Amino acid sequence: MARKGGFSSAEDRGLPKVKISKSSLKKALRLFYYIGPYKWRFLLGLVFLVLTGITAIVFPRFMGLLVDSSQISLDRINEMGLKLLVLFGLQAIFSFFRVVLFVQVTENMLLSIRKATYAHLIQMPMSFFAQRRVGEINSRMSADLAQIGDTFTTSIAEFLRQFIIIVGGIIALFFTSLKLAFLMLAIVPVVAIIAVFFGRYIRGFSKKVQDKIAESNVIVEETMQGIANVKSFANEFFELLRYSKKSEEIKSLAITGGKARGAFFSFIIFCLFGAIILLIWFAVKLESEGLLSHGDMIQFMLYTVFVGASIGGIAEQYAQIQKAIGATERVMEILDEPSETIQLPTTSKFSVLPYKRLEGNVRFENIKFTYPSRKEVEVLKNISFEAKKGQTIAFVGPSGSGKSTITALILRFYEPNTGSIYFDEKKSSEYTLTDLRNNMAIVPQDVLLFGGTIRENIAYGKPDASMEEIIEAAKKANAHEFISGFPEGYDTIVGERGIKLSGGQRQRVAIARAVLKNPAILILDEATSSLDSESERLVQEALDKLMIGRTSFVIAHRLSTIRNADSIIVIDKGEVVESGTHTDLIEKQNGLYRNLSKLQFEHEKLT
Ligand SMILES: Nc1ncnc2c1ncn2[C@@H]1O[C@H](COP(=O)(O)OP(=O)(O)OP(=O)(O)O)[C@@H](O)[C@H]1O
Ligand SMILES: [Mg+2]
Repeated sequence: MARKGGFSSAEDRGLPKVKISKSSLKKALRLFYYIGPYKWRFLLGLVFLVLTGITAIVFPRFMGLLVDSSQISLDRINEMGLKLLVLFGLQAIFSFFRVVLFVQVTENMLLSIRKATYAHLIQMPMSFFAQRRVGEINSRMSADLAQIGDTFTTSIAEFLRQFIIIVGGIIALFFTSLKLAFLMLAIVPVVAIIAVFFGRYIRGFSKKVQDKIAESNVIVEETMQGIANVKSFANEFFELLRYSKKSEEIKSLAITGGKARGAFFSFIIFCLFGAIILLIWFAVKLESEGLLSHGDMIQFMLYTVFVGASIGGIAEQYAQIQKAIGATERVMEILDEPSETIQLPTTSKFSVLPYKRLEGNVRFENIKFTYPSRKEVEVLKNISFEAKKGQTIAFVGPSGSGKSTITALILRFYEPNTGSIYFDEKKSSEYTLTDLRNNMAIVPQDVLLFGGTIRENIAYGKPDASMEEIIEAAKKANAHEFISGFPEGYDTIVGERGIKLSGGQRQRVAIARAVLKNPAILILDEATSSLDSESERLVQEALDKLMIGRTSFVIAHRLSTIRNADSIIVIDKGEVVESGTHTDLIEKQNGLYRNLSKLQFEHEKLT
């Protein structure tokens, strides 16, 4: 009776169970909020569930009466046969509606939870993502929601149905024969409970085996992804040893588990059949003494089987419900985390909300900042600077000095601890995040392309852009030429499953995105640092065009690219140590910028 498929799939997910307590139950009940308008269907489903439980309990009684009717008359036999047929007909109908209703309710509930969780996740502040691994978030979205779904469609229903059968069946047993009922109650639950614990012990093994398999899969995945590393270090044998060791562990665990499973089967066969034989023996004795009719005996056996199976099954359903409550708690935890306030359109069709266009004046005033995940390190110490609209401001400084952090603050990924950021002489807090970010575009060092066509990737800067606009943007980004070179042109699939673009090509796609977005403020985080000189020229040319008429913040290691900046701000250990134009800074004796320039100039002469 236990739904075997159910627990094996849940076992795959490896979700922990939680003790059901008042507070965890309270959290779980919040799920019902997502059932919303479907709660009546849920109740109706429960009614059908109870009806299937009742028909299940009536069945052994009817069987008993059918057997005994052979002693009465042919009419009575036919009558009981017909009644049984009707009973099963009803059971079939009830079961159908129960399943359909529960699935409808659950799928609608899952849909609203999925949407709510994703909407919430995507609006989380950056600090949330810095503290969690993507895999963990992903498993919330998949494993936890799948567990909730399974539990709502099946486990809760099975749990209640088996509960009805256990209670109803035991009552019916006592009505059938007191003596037999006491004997049965002394044996069957004990065997069933031992079987449950034994079964759990065995499943512990298969869980361990699965964990080991997962670990060995990680090895395969890592080495395949980093195959160039493995080969270049000639570490094939090292990896092979690592994999073999894990595989050996899998083998020994699985064999030990197999022995336990064998013992389990022997135990079940012996105890179960032993118990049945004992009961039949006792029942036959009672029958021969005239204390029990033949029909009552059949009826009794059927009730025993039903109750026994339900006791065995209900523990599993309970475990599933516990897991689902844990899953619910974790999902609710995400939903309870404070998110950023981002305005989403309320329509179901895609649209870009109109936003206020900035002029592009930006000012940092005494900004101090620590990352929320590393409170003890002050990454920015009292940073002040000003960018007038249309100016180019360059940040220069050693690695880890805080340059990227400054751009993260401009984008308002984080809030500074003290000090204020002004946009067009108004405090950043006076704008909505959506308004601010709609006015900015970033060309990062490592451009991420989404799985899809090049056209879609460029259109990410303006999702409702026309094809003409996209081509225009690509031309401005020096990307049109290489895109047209592909057989499929703008419909070339890129990203994980598509073709791989070179670093410079990806950069130019990112620039095209920024061109389409037409932002007032532009952030270039080492946009050319990883490129060879030819693609650097193409990218730099595109960037120069893009920067015209916008306030641009440029982070560059190669100082030759920022010579013409309106102001160069030299950052060291989170502080502004120098600032001014190239000519100002190059004249400073012992200045950091002068030294860095000299080093690079000599280096370039050498190469
Ligand atoms: N998300 C984060 N959480 C905690 N600390 C961080 C985070 N990002 C950066 N840091 C730390 O903040 C400091 C400044 O980092 P930042 O990325 O701003 O440096 P950078 O000047 O851009 O360096 P690079 O030139 O190497 O890109 C570093 O010490 C870094 O370890
Ligand atoms: Mg950086």
